Amino acid sequence: MTQLRIILIVLVLGSHLCSAQQTIPQLLRTPYLQTALSDSVSILWKTTSGTHCKAMVRAENTTWRTAQGVVVKAKYGYMNTVTIRGLQRGVRYQYRIFTDEEELLKKDTLDFISSVDAKRPFNFFTAGDIGEPVGEGGKPDKMAVGITKLKDRPHFGLLLGDIVYPNGESEGYDKHLFPYFKDVFMKIPTFAVLGNHDWVVNPEENFLKEWKLPGNGHYYSFDYSNAHFIGLDSKNGDFHEFEKQKAWLINDLQNAQGKYDWIIVFLHHNGISCTYKEDYKKVIELYPLFEQYKVDVVLNGHAHTYERLNPINGKGEPIQKFIGTPNVYRQPEGFISITAGSGGKLRGFGTDPTYYAPDPERCSHPKLVAFSKHLWAFMQIHVDGKQLWAEAIDTKDGSVFDYFRIVKK
Ligand SMILES: [Fe+2]
Repeated sequence: MTQLRIILIVLVLGSHLCSAQQTIPQLLRTPYLQTALSDSVSILWKTTSGTHCKAMVRAENTTWRTAQGVVVKAKYGYMNTVTIRGLQRGVRYQYRIFTDEEELLKKDTLDFISSVDAKRPFNFFTAGDIGEPVGEGGKPDKMAVGITKLKDRPHFGLLLGDIVYPNGESEGYDKHLFPYFKDVFMKIPTFAVLGNHDWVVNPEENFLKEWKLPGNGHYYSFDYSNAHFIGLDSKNGDFHEFEKQKAWLINDLQNAQGKYDWIIVFLHHNGISCTYKEDYKKVIELYPLFEQYKVDVVLNGHAHTYERLNPINGKGEPIQKFIGTPNVYRQPEGFISITAGSGGKLRGFGTDPTYYAPDPERCSHPKLVAFSKHLWAFMQIHVDGKQLWAEAIDTKDGSVFDYFRIVKK
């Protein structure tokens, strides 16, 4: 009997101690939208503590519904993840987030536009090399503001690697990326691929813990409206699991044939270029696939500048009939490759910027470059049926400094 009494006292004391230790979760990282697929989207946020989480969503003027999520202890804080399923296409949804029944961001209006169907136009933003510390001259803050000022809100975004400098550590995300991009990421779902800086540390313990991406997170594809997007992991230019990734790419491209109006590849490293970076052989090795399987656009970062190439074929040769034409490509052949690697970092800033500008005059690839400019920049790319048009935007003032259009029959 005495033993039982002691056990009861210990249990009661223990429960009091536990409740004394319970704390109200605080937001460490505002919500961000991931893996926006045809009928689902994931919402992630970070808290100081937590055991369970949920999100409430509703299409405008309808009743709230609840989706339960999971809380996982992260390297820094606790990661909350909720996946919302059964979304209607192209609808504005409002959402609210809760950790341990505590509503976070009560006064904020959180919303997103679900994936549009194949008949509706859409647009996305893209750039690479973003998370350069502001204290070291980086401009991730300016790029984020530029996106929020766009007339047409992007439906999603593609980050072209080297997400966080100097080494892709999880800690850097809350120092050099999320503080600036929180207003973008909480309304615009974003997909990221790995760059060489993201590979300085183990991406399984860092990059892949910060993003929730389709497939294995290194290389993956997704559909958006009438377009198919393929993200690749070019690692240090030599590619993660190159042969395996290439076999996956071939299979993915084969499956996509005839199903979409557009195929867009995005990765960190460039193939041939006239920037200050070398030509990466493994990227060039994929060119014949890009031509054979009718890839339209290839987007990359890595070189901290902007460069758009003339349409090229599987051998990396500019297609003669498009050289020197106005920026409208009718019934295109080959693919257009673009370096947009000055999202947050511009090479030579503060020293001699012009030295690092793409220079077709000194380039070993004649007639390769359609347009280049050395400045902080990001892109907005629009798709409407059989037309795709892209604008390169000066981060400094939001002006469009390059433009092209592809028109298919
Ligand atoms: Fe890079």
